[in-house]
Amino acid sequence: MKWTAIFFVLVAVAAAGWYIMQPTYSQTDTQTNEGFVLPAGALAFVKLPASLTEQEKIGASAYDAVCAACHGLNAQGQDGVAPPLVHKIYEPSHHGDMAFVLAAQNGVRAHHWKFGNMPAVEGVTRSDILAIVAYIRALQRANGIN
Ligand code: HEC
Repeated sequence: MKWTAIFFVLVAVAAAGWYIMQPTYSQTDTQTNEGFVLPAGALAFVKLPASLTEQEKIGASAYDAVCAACHGLNAQGQDGVAPPLVHKIYEPSHHGDMAFVLAAQNGVRAHHWKFGNMPAVEGVTRSDILAIVAYIRALQRANGIN
């Protein structure tokens, strides 16, 4: 009788331990194959560059002001809204800097994804866009996209 009680206590302790050891991801976070935890809503795990040049910093502020609402923080994408720009298909040899200028100035007809069209972005100059591209390239390089 006594041993049965001890057995049940041990099982309860083991179960509690197992429960506590579970990773505490929020339910909306998704885990990638590499084992990284994506921030809620993000479509890519973005490693940040160690440092940014002056132009890249200007691009980062401009990006946050006019692109991040759709393409997400650090260009990680946003579930249901817009793709991550830190993504192999946006590498320089496939989407050169002019593709970014044209995207911002004229908008983009949906073709790679199912998010719908990107509208033209109002109120950004060409030099703003080139700074944004420099910033996005820095993010891409930090993630092995060259
Ligand atoms: C209103 C939401 C929205 C905003 C704001 C936005 N984008 Fe987009 N963008 C999209 C969507 C959606 C797509 C995907 C289109 C597709 O299916 O290929 C896209 C695609 C792109 C592409 C790929 C173009 C191509 O030729 O395939 C680039 C580059 C891009 N965006 C850059 C930017 C930059 C830079 C900004 C800020 C100046 C910005 N976007 C702001 C929604 C947005």
